[in-house]
Amino acid sequence: MRFLNLLFLVFFLPNCFADNPTKQSCASVTEFTCQVASELRRGINLGNMLEAPREGSWGVRIDNDILEVVSREFSNVRVPIRWSNHASIGVDAKIDEDFANRVDQVIDTLLASNIYVIINVHHYSQLFGDNLHAGEYRVSPEVVEERLLSLWRQIANRYKNRSDKLIFELLNEPHGKIDSDRWNKLHQNIIKIVRDSNPTRIIMVGPMEWNSPRGLSKLGNLSDKNLIIQIHNYDPFEFTHQGVSYLPIKLPIGISCCSDAQRKTISDAFDTAQQWSKKNGYPIYLGEFGVSRQADVGSRGRYIAIVRDEAEKRGFGWSYWELASSFGVFDAEKKIWNESLRRFLLD
Ligand code: BGC
Repeated sequence: MRFLNLLFLVFFLPNCFADNPTKQSCASVTEFTCQVASELRRGINLGNMLEAPREGSWGVRIDNDILEVVSREFSNVRVPIRWSNHASIGVDAKIDEDFANRVDQVIDTLLASNIYVIINVHHYSQLFGDNLHAGEYRVSPEVVEERLLSLWRQIANRYKNRSDKLIFELLNEPHGKIDSDRWNKLHQNIIKIVRDSNPTRIIMVGPMEWNSPRGLSKLGNLSDKNLIIQIHNYDPFEFTHQGVSYLPIKLPIGISCCSDAQRKTISDAFDTAQQWSKKNGYPIYLGEFGVSRQADVGSRGRYIAIVRDEAEKRGFGWSYWELASSFGVFDAEKKIWNESLRRFLLD
């Protein structure tokens, strides 16, 4: 009998886990989508590169070394892209072919390593009613929203034959003028357009309020079976965004992490996401979390370890914001990691 018990422990138990690799809630999606949600695992954002008004205008650009490093170390790479500023100003938003070729090159190099690649529409400032970035051009107000649909028609068509590992994320961080009513109609319309050319490709949709889990309760009109929900978590904000220059008020530097109260703000956000996911049956991916380089390195490492752990214990794949700029963990010129942070992301 003892022997049988032992046999059970050795052979049966590990198989239980092997058959159930994801803790994600997947009642509303296909088995394939559920599987992908569990395979996204760890990732990095190539931030401030292709979503700058022009590649390089925010100080960092994608090169072959970067593509090689990220595809070796990560199982997913999120590539934020500012298509709106590389397209004609009219309603048809014809995408500039040189820019699209550049994006093709980045996507195809990453896909060749068999990792997941998430592309999106990032920083279309006018859509949200935000101030434009330097170098971003204004279009006539009547065409702003329709241009987003035109962009997706072209993006979806251009990449319809790429591998299943290419994922479309419809819009980074809806906020401002894109309130819940508008977003719930808009994401449904974009999905219809994408589905004309990509009937089953995985699409990511995020909630209002800058993709915060707090916005999930207002996310509606979901019916597609190949959806993964993308959230962002920058709690505790005073810590993660200390000293950054682009906020209306510059937050003081010198805030450390992570006290019990700070840890709780992180786990509360994940609990909100997990509860929503269980209730609605869509799996979750953490597309952004990160901390400014101006925080002390010990706190940055502790923060990364905690967020990663909170995501992984719920089965959420994740992607750190970002590789080599003001939240970065890698020196793009010297091509070296910040070693004291690397291990928290990669070990
Ligand atoms: C924005 C970045 C910003 C980051 C952290 C991203 O979604 O696109 O511009 O640096 O969030 O605030």
